Amino acid sequence: MVEKSVKQKITRLTSSIRNHNHLYYVMDEPEISDYEYDKLFNELRQLEIKYPEFQANLSPTQNVGAEPSSAFKSIEHALPMLSLGNVFKRKELEDFDRRAHERLELPLNQSISYACELKFDGTAVSVVYEEGILTRAATRGDGKKGEDVTHNVRTIKSLPFELQGRNHPSYLEVRGEVFMPLSGFNNFNKEALSNNERVFVNPRNAAAGSLRQLDPTYTKKRPLDIFFYGVGIVNDMELPAKHSDIMSLLSKWGLKICDENVLADGVDGCMNFYDQMIKKRHTFDYDIDGLVYKVDQISHQNKLGFVSRAPRWATAHKFPAREEYTIIEAIEFQVGRTGAITPVAKVKPVFVGGVTISNITLHNMDELHRKDVRVGDTVTIRRAGDVIPELVKVILSKRPSDTNIVGMPKTCPVCNSRIIRVVGEAVSRCTGGYECRAQRIEYLKHFVSRKAMDIDGFGVKLIEQLVDSERLLTPDHIYTLNENELCSLDRVATKTAKNIIQAVIDSKVTSLSKFIYSLGIREVGQTTADVLEDFYKDLNTLMLASEEELQKVPEVGPIVARNIVAFFKNENNKNIIKNLISCGVSWSHKPTKERKEQILLGKVVVITGSFSSSSREQLKTHIKELGGKITGSVSKKTDFLLAGSDPGLKVQKALELNIEIIDEGKFFELYKAYN
Ligand code: IVH
Repeated sequence: MVEKSVKQKITRLTSSIRNHNHLYYVMDEPEISDYEYDKLFNELRQLEIKYPEFQANLSPTQNVGAEPSSAFKSIEHALPMLSLGNVFKRKELEDFDRRAHERLELPLNQSISYACELKFDGTAVSVVYEEGILTRAATRGDGKKGEDVTHNVRTIKSLPFELQGRNHPSYLEVRGEVFMPLSGFNNFNKEALSNNERVFVNPRNAAAGSLRQLDPTYTKKRPLDIFFYGVGIVNDMELPAKHSDIMSLLSKWGLKICDENVLADGVDGCMNFYDQMIKKRHTFDYDIDGLVYKVDQISHQNKLGFVSRAPRWATAHKFPAREEYTIIEAIEFQVGRTGAITPVAKVKPVFVGGVTISNITLHNMDELHRKDVRVGDTVTIRRAGDVIPELVKVILSKRPSDTNIVGMPKTCPVCNSRIIRVVGEAVSRCTGGYECRAQRIEYLKHFVSRKAMDIDGFGVKLIEQLVDSERLLTPDHIYTLNENELCSLDRVATKTAKNIIQAVIDSKVTSLSKFIYSLGIREVGQTTADVLEDFYKDLNTLMLASEEELQKVPEVGPIVARNIVAFFKNENNKNIIKNLISCGVSWSHKPTKERKEQILLGKVVVITGSFSSSSREQLKTHIKELGGKITGSVSKKTDFLLAGSDPGLKVQKALELNIEIIDEGKFFELYKAYN
């Protein structure tokens, strides 16, 4: 029995990975994240190792046939690839240097020699040469384990296949940064634009994305380059005693080392390098986000060692995040799901940190007043790394003479209801509740979202039209919609309407925590909803709970408890819940978490035909219990078709698309095996 289900699992994983390979490298339209792909891949590999007898002929893990290397094998770094601590100011660098002196027991007047390098903004790799021949390249990954990207790294033109010179160690692991030069990045994007293809957001993403291409012929077309900055494991050779000399040796072997590397004495020497580089960085054909200072003496490095995954012998000196000037064109007030009013600055579009910014949140009125932002002001904005853009400050000298202090409007810009600010809270709120179009739309968007009732295809445009025609006032109305009504809306074809209604029906079977979350109670997110389900197990008990009782629930404090009680006291809310339940919304009492394994997690299943052993609704519940998602029609996104008797055209479509078809018997075998 176990063997049978293992075999089925291997078959399923094999066909699913083949399908994703096809989507990724042939269609260039991946449907799952790299992470999810890797999970599937590793799961299959583990099963194949344990049960080699079930391994499919030409399994995708074996990398044979016409398929390009489909796999990113996981590679363990024998010596972890660490990160760097960082400093921004001279004072912090002085502290770093002083700590190094103390640990090395050196007097402060004896300055440490630092190898100063650029901090390249690309993606880290470890490259192995055995007997002088490139044999393996891996990404940094989580520092302990990376991914095998040998096939892609081999396409980098400046990387030698074979080391130059003589006397190489039998095993040499070098570490460096793969990057995309700015000129290459711009050309690549220009061409992509003219071919209507996807463009890269910034050179860092471009480098990382290119390394993770499944097909190296794609990587080869990307203008990648590499700089080396360190060594990992080295066998059968004594390396020089200084980092700077090791770098020179690597350079002699043909490995690319940056020309800007210098040796500097103490903090003053490093700061001098910093001052030069901050002026020069604009002339480089690659992005850097700072500098790296490394204690040059390897014996000193060894003595200093590491702390929490970063060396004590090196630090990054980060450049300040790039700031840009722009002009405030307007300050608008957005209304959120719970009525919270957020001031948002509309700015003259400006390109910063790799993206164009035209809106910047000012969070709340306190922040807006603290920065005293006014329409017409010139401001600096910044965006460090991937974080949301921030308004740094107003340039007062550039303020026009006729500006006005911005105040919170007295009434909601959307529904005209009064805006109030609760004492002690930073936010002001529109008091319109469901009467406010903005709040209603946000609430409905939340209700249908993936983590809530998960109604596929129920988009914003649809919600807006239904709200404006007053057909959708509260979420329970969603369950009274029909296909004809949807068809009469703008841009809704018959097929779309059919799919949406099917998704509405499918969403009826849910879990209690998803249902609680979808109600949109203020400050009740997914985690709190999960905890509430675990604690109360049933909705009625939760609805009757008092504030004191609720505070016994882990993670529920007085404010959340008050919000929950207030929500369930409200007659409108009670009616919505009653209606939702009478429309058929239900949840299984056994939480899915208790199941042994959610083998259908993330899988899309379509049901067709009629079934003898259980009703369709029961089947749907079972599929959801195993983590699967049910949709109405077969498409390339479908993972399985569950076919009963008299199945109709869906089977044919599934066959055409090479989608696995399972019958009732097979499904129940699976269900029992994992349940
Ligand atoms: S040395 C143990 N040198 O920065 C020291 N790293 O935050 C490890 N990086 O992922 C790194 N340029 O990819 C070093 N000249 C340089 C670097 C550099 C860029 C990246 C590296 C690492 C990250 C560490």
